[in-house]
Amino acid sequence: MKGISILIAIALLAAAPILLWAAEDGAALYESRCGMCHGAKGEGNKDANMPAVKGTPMTVEQLVTYLTKGDKTKTIHADPISDLNEEQAKAIAEHIKKMK
Ligand code: HEC
Repeated sequence: MKGISILIAIALLAAAPILLWAAEDGAALYESRCGMCHGAKGEGNKDANMPAVKGTPMTVEQLVTYLTKGDKTKTIHADPISDLNEEQAKAIAEHIKKMK
C-alpha cells in the first residue's frame, strides 16, 4: 500500500508543472498584447488617448466579449483582437480585474 501511495504522489508531482503550464498566463498576455497601449499597470496613456483599463467597470465576461468579438462603436477595438482565443481573453480579463 505504502509503495503505491508514493508512486501516486510522484505521479502528481510530475503532473503539476504541466497543469500550471497549461493555464494561460494573463499577466504575460496582457504585457505582450495590451500593455503597449494601455500601460504596464493598466494606467493608460492620456497623451496618446489610450484609456486606462485598471478599475474598469466591465465584468470579466464583458471584457472577454469585447476582446474576442470587438465592439463596432469603437475604433481600435471595432474588431476582435487577432489570434486571441476565449481562454486567453479570460486570463487577460482576470488579470485586469486584479490591477490596483
Ligand atoms: C493599439 C493600441 C491598443 C491595443 C493593443 C489594445 N487597446 Fe484597448 N483600447 C485602445 C483604445 C484606443 C481604446 C478606446 C476605444 C477604441 O478606440 O477602440 C481602448 C479601449 C479598451 C477598453 C475599454 C476602456 C473604456 O473604459 O472604454 C478595454 C477594456 C481595453 N481597451 C482592453 C484592452 C485589452 C485587454 C487589450 C489587449 C488584449 C487591448 N485593449 C489592446 C487601444 C488599444
